[in-house]
Parts: sequence; structure tokens; C-alpha cells
Amino acid sequence: EQNMTTLIMIFGATGDLAKRKLFPSLYRLFERGRIANRFAVIGVARRPLSNDQFQQSVKDSVTSALGAKQNLDQFASHFYYQSHDVTDSNSYIALKKLADEIDTHNHLEGNRIFYLAMAPEFFGSIALHLKADGLTNVKGYKRLVIEKPFGHDLESAKELNEQIRTAFSEEEIYRIDHYLGKEMVRNIEVIRFANAIFEPLWNNRYISNIQITSSETLGVEERGRYYESSGALRDMLQNHMMQIVALLAMEPPISLTTKEIRLEKVRVFRSLRTIKGEAVNDYFVRGQYGEGEIDQKKVPKYRDEPMVNNESNTETFVAGKVMIDNFRWAGVPFYIRTGKRMETKSTKIVIQFKDIPMNLYYRPEKELSPNLLVIHIQPEEGITLHLNAKKAGSHLDAQEVKLSFSNTGTYAMNTPEGYEKLLFDCMRGDATNFTHWDEVAYSWAFVDEISKVWDQTKGDFPNYDAGTMGPKAADELLEKDGFFWWPIN
Ligand code: BG6
Repeated sequence: EQNMTTLIMIFGATGDLAKRKLFPSLYRLFERGRIANRFAVIGVARRPLSNDQFQQSVKDSVTSALGAKQNLDQFASHFYYQSHDVTDSNSYIALKKLADEIDTHNHLEGNRIFYLAMAPEFFGSIALHLKADGLTNVKGYKRLVIEKPFGHDLESAKELNEQIRTAFSEEEIYRIDHYLGKEMVRNIEVIRFANAIFEPLWNNRYISNIQITSSETLGVEERGRYYESSGALRDMLQNHMMQIVALLAMEPPISLTTKEIRLEKVRVFRSLRTIKGEAVNDYFVRGQYGEGEIDQKKVPKYRDEPMVNNESNTETFVAGKVMIDNFRWAGVPFYIRTGKRMETKSTKIVIQFKDIPMNLYYRPEKELSPNLLVIHIQPEEGITLHLNAKKAGSHLDAQEVKLSFSNTGTYAMNTPEGYEKLLFDCMRGDATNFTHWDEVAYSWAFVDEISKVWDQTKGDFPNYDAGTMGPKAADELLEKDGFFWWPIN
């Protein structure tokens, strides 16, 4: 598994993702000896740059993400740059020539990864050119890594998929969902399927509801143009949140192969209750942030952000109740919420177990607490199990105790760590933690019904203050079922 041989072409090599995540992740793989001498990277972007300039920007980005490093020059010497016009065949022909030379010179065995990390409107045509202009014609493997968004709705996703499928087979396509690179997201299946005490309870007989929150304190920053046409529903829910739902809800796979795991996830998507028409307002809540305070600093409302329409109808928050109509989950709501400019940056899952039949133990202030299993995805990584136990010294009073396992300290937040794993997976040819087309398609079909309704009516925006946990309606969504959002701090 060590020391991969590969040529990676990064389209969008001067962009933010390349600098913040991809270069530092490649450096880590280099540092750990997972890629050594036989790898090369061609940075591809529009602006003219010399190899030296490009290598300097690679070094700078590693230093700013990871601090000063020893062997940076050696690492950067594997990087080449090619200025490129994504619509022009001549550009691709020049790129092919460069790639072939580098390949021969470094004995890369014709293994090629094409990484699309740029404006999504070009994804389809780049894939078509890669094939037409001969870049995919290699004797090793060829793989396409494609960043989100994968389409804007089902129809555009289909169109994009057809374009890339003319050049790459499904097995060769690695659709990134960077949440699947997160350590604790990958841990969900282990927690579920490697413990005798969870799996027997993991169903509608013992679980009352599941809550998934992914909150951010950041606003829309410089991404107004993209975000205006996306909103929280497409930006976070269609992909990251639905992937977490699938991992929590899927049946145990027969084995841990990519095929078996994806098959089970797809079955979850197939079981989703379609929410459409008037039901959308019963099951889903949207929000948009107004002014407020984050970390004691005043921040503007969404409508005042750069590149945002001052009457924007785009949601920056979404909460919903997802029902999985199958034998295991019938009747168990999965509540999900995500938004920008919320109180805290946190991703957590709370699994709430059903109340026991009666309470024998006296608790002066409240009812016996339900058992909770909390999976902390970020910033802390770990799990906490909430139990009831005897209060020390008391007669037989129960109190809540917490058993915690914490990964904290292994990695700080915003490390390139997730991308490092995903890149390594791709080099090894393991597509398990990438999304299969069927998952994408079902999840768009689900989300499209919601946006259809929201696009037709104006939201009552802004409806939550920056720095809060979202609009009141998001709390009411649970209250009407007799639940509440468990605090996530
Ligand atoms: C991205 C979204 O997919 O995920 C961003 O486009 C969002 O809007 C980001 O900020 C959140 O990722 P993370 O890893 O910081 O939780």
C-alpha cells in the first residue's frame, strides 16, 4: 500500500481548495512515505505561472497549513504547472504532451488521477476533452476525482453524469463528499457493527429519534455568487447530511467492500419518504440569518453579504424531519439541521433511546433521562454514552452519568486530514468513501421536491439572528413530536 505511483492533474490548482487542502494533504502523504519519488502533480489553471512560481505557492500553502517543514523543496520538485484554457483542445494536447513526458521520465506507469477542483460549470466539458484529446488513454489506471457540487438538481446532475461517464466508468469516478473523509464519520459503521451493545438496539423498538446537527459560525464569506443559487439545502443537506443519515440507517453490509457498503446505503436512499407539496412545510424549515453577534463581534445579515441579492430568498439554514420507511426505521424521525452563522461550529449526532417502561427511581428535579449516544464529529471527536446510575451517598436516587471516549488531540480542526485520507483512498483505488451515482441521484430527487416548493414562495427572511441556533420553527419541528434538540455544546 505504501509508496504510490501516480500522476495527479489538479484542475483549479491556483484555487482555494488546492491551497488549503490538497497541497497540504499531498505533503502529509509524502511525509508519511505514502507517496515518495514516483509521483508527480501537474497544476492546471488559467493564469500563466512558471513552474518555480507554482512550486513556491505549493510550499507556501504547506507552510501556512502545517507550519515550517524540512523537506519542502524536495516535495515541491514533484510539481509542474501548465496554463490552460479548459475549452480549447490545443490546451489539452499540450497538457497530454507534458503528462506523457513526466510519466516516462518518472516511471509513473501510466497511472493518472484527474482532480477537478474548480468551477463546476466546466466539469462536464473537461471530462469530454480529457477523452477526446487522448489524456485518458493510458496504460495504467485513470481516475476522475470530482468536487461538489455534483449538479444543481437531479436533471443537471444527470447531464453532468452522462458527460463524465463518456470518459470514465462508474468505478473510475470518485465523487468527493469531504464529510466521508472525517474520522468520526468513518467511525459510525465501526461503532454500529463492532459492538454487541448497539446493533440489537439500533431500530424502531429502542430508538426514539436521531438528531444530526452541523452548525457553522462562518457566514457565506466570499462565496455569495455560488451560495445564492445553492443555499443550505443543496450546499450541505443534499450531500453531507444525507450521507450521515445513510451511514446511521443502513443495514449491516455482507462485507466491507465498496460494492456492498454502497448497496446498503442506496437502499436507505430508496426508503426515504418523499416529502413534497404541502407536506414540505410540515417536515422542513428554512432560515436566513439576520444581523447578530459571533464571538462578541457584530456581523451583517446575509442580505448584506458581498454578491448577495438584498432581497435574497436563499436559505442559510435548514432543518428537517427525514423518515425512512422500512422495517427497521418505520416511525423513527431523523431530525437534521445545518446552517451558517449559528452559535457554534459543531457537527454532532445524538441517538436518543426510548424511555424505559417505568421510573422506579426518584429524581427530584425531573424525569429519568433517556439514554443518549452522542457521536462527536467535530471539533471534538469521540462518543459519549449517557446512562443513569445511583447518585453517590443517596438512598436510591438516579442521576445521569456520561461515559466518554475522546479522540481529541489527534487532529486539530480544519486540518487537511480528511482530504489526505480521501486522496490516499483514490490512489489505492478504494471508492468506498466516495458517493456512487445512485446515491447522488436519489438524494437529489429527495431534495428537489423541497426546493420546488421553496422556490415558489418567499421565505419570511431574515428569521434568525446570527449567533443563534436558527429560527424558532426549527424548535417547533421537534416540539410537535414531543421532542427537543439536545444541546450540542
Ligand atoms: C462545504 C460547504 O461542503 O462544507 C461549505 O460548501 C461548508 O459551505 C463546508 O462551510 C463545511 O465543512 P466543514 O468540514 O468545515 O464542516
